[in-house]
Amino acid sequence: MALKKLIAGNWKMNGTTQSAMSLAQDIGDALAGSPALGDRCDFLVCPPAVHIPAVRQAVTKQGAPLAVGGQDCAAFEKGAYTGDIAAPMLKDAGCDYVILGHSERRTIHGETSALVQAKAKHAHDWGLVTIICVGEQESERDAGEAFNVVAGQLAGSLPAGADASNTVIAYEPVWAIGTGKSATPQDVEAMHRFIWEKLQEKLEDFGKMRILYGGSVKPDNAAALLTIENVDGALIGGASLKAGDFIGIAKAV
Ligand code: PGA
Repeated sequence: MALKKLIAGNWKMNGTTQSAMSLAQDIGDALAGSPALGDRCDFLVCPPAVHIPAVRQAVTKQGAPLAVGGQDCAAFEKGAYTGDIAAPMLKDAGCDYVILGHSERRTIHGETSALVQAKAKHAHDWGLVTIICVGEQESERDAGEAFNVVAGQLAGSLPAGADASNTVIAYEPVWAIGTGKSATPQDVEAMHRFIWEKLQEKLEDFGKMRILYGGSVKPDNAAALLTIENVDGALIGGASLKAGDFIGIAKAV
């Protein structure tokens, strides 16, 4: 049975309080204008942490069917962790989701799968659904290592207790993020099938865990990518910053 697609926007480090609220409102208006989209897709936006309360307020005021999530959280509940944001803080600000292990955090901040796993455990304890990102670098794909890399990240990043109710996987080939180069449908199909098989070995309710694709998803390639078997939605960076493109991706599915 096909799962309802999750269309998730990762706004990364962009915008102001005002622009974040406007973007959320524009998405809410578009969803109100196309109510049938909600039958096929769930929608999520992940603004920068400081914009979460304003976005949450805008969404609630509008009554839009739009969930809000964080882009990262700490592996600890509170204390002397300068600059970090705890899972209960995200929850308190109105988040239901958190992205973890995005390649920009793995690469720029040196996050290991073990750290992602600790963060995910913590996020689950606080009732957040985690979107755990995996994906190979271009050199790893060229070396024929893509499947090994992804298998290692999956095995290392999923905490005990991960299941379809609290975890979503996002496959994002690093070389396709923000580059305009999306993976081919054949590559996506092969990797999603591989991830599905790995989850099947690991989890009891594997069949229901969503596996998103991410990496230069746009309205014009969304239909080809998101109708592939085992692709249960998209994690969208650049195109999620324009309401028309974000909703256009859902419409294309
Ligand atoms: P992109 O980013 O859509 O801009 O490639 C995707 C992501 O980083 O999640």
